[in-house]
Amino acid sequence: MDFKKYVRDIPNFPEEGITFKDITPLLQDAKALAGAGDALFELIANMEIDKVVGMESRGFIFAPILATHLNAGFVPVRKRGKLPHQIISESYELEYGTDVLEIHVDSIQKGERVLIHDDVLATGGTAKAVCKLIEKLGGEVVQCNFLMELNFLKGREKLSGYSVASLIKY
Ligand code: PRP
Ligand code: MG
Repeated sequence: MDFKKYVRDIPNFPEEGITFKDITPLLQDAKALAGAGDALFELIANMEIDKVVGMESRGFIFAPILATHLNAGFVPVRKRGKLPHQIISESYELEYGTDVLEIHVDSIQKGERVLIHDDVLATGGTAKAVCKLIEKLGGEVVQCNFLMELNFLKGREKLSGYSVASLIKY
């Protein structure tokens, strides 16, 4: 399936000079949505996974779909102040300044095998912070899995040492 035909370019969003890759055409098409879920699952099929971690907010679209395919649990990583129970946090670099991601301390048990999923790998800052959170809890990151990868931002370099897989590459 040619998933690129369901991704549209939005010029000058969210700011002047940036071209945003919009996946909503893919999400709203029944065949493309199911096909993308299946193809993402193919990237990790045959591996034992205990938990799928998805990051707020666009990682929440496919992570639970993958979790049900893998017979694994789903764990949300959220932006600061959103999770109600005891958390640990990790800060990461944005284009301007830093932000914080959080995870519940009881969401991953020591030795659990974890798949990370997000919609886009750009600079890799988000995914790297999530890897650190999982490892602080004693989990093992089996793969960092993305719907889309923007090669020119070199996210794979930031994630060196981890297995990285993506469906759509630019
Ligand atoms: C976007 C995207 C990824 C992240 C990738 O999320 O959904 O999570 O940026 O960028 P990076 O590889 O450079 O870290 P964003 O923080 O914009 O928020 P959203 O998912 O809530 O829209
Ligand atoms: Mg995001």
